[in-house]
Parts: sequence; structure tokens; C-alpha cells
Amino acid sequence: MKPPLIVGNWKMHGTQTEAFALARHIRRGLKAIKGVEVVLAPPFTALAPVSQAIKGSGLRLGGQNVHWQTEGAFTGEISPKMLQELGCRFVIVGHSERRRLFKESDQLIANKMLASLRAGLRPILCVGETLEERRKGTMPRVITRQLRAALKGVRKSGIEKIEIAYEPVWAIGTGHNATPDQVSHAHCWIRKVLKELLGEKRGKRCRILYGGSVRPDNAAELGRALEVNGLLVGGASLRARDFLNIVHYFLA
Ligand code: PGA
Repeated sequence: MKPPLIVGNWKMHGTQTEAFALARHIRRGLKAIKGVEVVLAPPFTALAPVSQAIKGSGLRLGGQNVHWQTEGAFTGEISPKMLQELGCRFVIVGHSERRRLFKESDQLIANKMLASLRAGLRPILCVGETLEERRKGTMPRVITRQLRAALKGVRKSGIEKIEIAYEPVWAIGTGHNATPDQVSHAHCWIRKVLKELLGEKRGKRCRILYGGSVRPDNAAELGRALEVNGLLVGGASLRARDFLNIVHYFLA
């Protein structure tokens, strides 16, 4: 299995100056990054300064979103190639905020997956159910649909580069994380679907991260839930000390 992956999703927070300072702070707090991969995903405008701040440190850079074309008349959009050039190795695709607030469809997300892989980026595909879907008991169905749609058309060679993040919508930014039992259940389901879609061997190797109100006080127990191979951290990744405390649980 690959090492655990911890991703800090800074969302729309931080000017260039603030982002640079936060990245330096995190860098200083991580003397050696062993047995874990750590990715910082600042806003587009702060990718360049954060890239500078973490150069040579072992910390990795990620985008929060991407367009599916290489270039063209797409006002306000950023292409995979542009992210690559800034030093991104990862990109978050299909975050529930993008699905919900910006009406991203399963098809659009599938296009972004393919475009990211073509450009050599590792897409972190977010899936997860809403509170209503959970109450109706349709979590497995929703997640299966999201995975099937997003992974359709991904070639065998690309599968190794894909990361999955289970992010129940009701747990994001609410302070109410899923319980370890809920996380285990969802992650085991995702693993089963991945094996069905990608084949036993590849499906087993894909990392599945949990995201949704991860904090230093719950990171260890969430990290121990079944089939959890890392964490996607929002709010807590904006405070260097909290983020470092979370990463420290996973250091070898
Ligand atoms: P949160 O966000 O940790 O603030 O809940 C997680 C995410 O949206 O990736």
C-alpha cells in the first residue's frame, strides 16, 4: 500500500502573503516527512508563492479545481497544464462544494478526471452523500453512481494515479465528523466498488481518504477506521499547529 496521504484544502482562504506564511510555518514544523505524503491545496492565486515556500521540502502542491480543456475561451478557468506548470502534482476534483454550488455534474467531473490524468496530475476524486440521502439509506447507491461516472473512461495506466476522498456532505465544515463506524462502513463500500470497477489488484491499491470536520482530536481515531488511507482536511488545515498535529499522527 502507498503511504497515507494528508491533504490540506485551504478553499477560498488566504492572500498570497498569508498563504506563503502558512506554508512556511507548516514546512518548519515538519523536519522530515517520512511514511506519509502531505499535500497543500491553496487557492489558485497562492499556488506560486506556496510552491516557493515548500520547494525542496517534500511537501506537495495541489489545485482545488481544474478545467477539462488545455486552453480556450473559458473565462475564469484554469487548465491542467497551468496547474502542472505551477508545480502541482495533485488536484481535487468533484468536491461537494463544486457539485452543489457550481452545479458540477457527474459527466463534467468525469471530463476533469481524464484531463487531469492526461496532464500527469493525480486527481483526488471527492464522493459523498447529503444528509437527506443518508437518512433515506441511499449512501451506497449515491457513492456507487459517483464513482462509476467519474471513473468511466479512465485507462488502466491512469488508475494508479487516482485518489478517492469520501466526504459526507453533512460532515463538511459542520464540526460533526462521521463516526469511525460510519467511516469504516462507507470506506469498505467504496473499496468493494473500486475492486468491481478497476479489478481486484488495482482496486485494492487506490487510496481512500476521509474528509469532513477532521481535527487534531479526532484524526487518530478516524485514521484507524477500516480502509482509511489518509485524510482531506479543510478548516483545520488553515491553522498550522492543528494541521501539523494531524500530520504527526501519520508520520512513520
Ligand atoms: P472541513 O472540510 O475539514 O472544514 O470539514 C473538508 C473539505 O471540504 O475538504
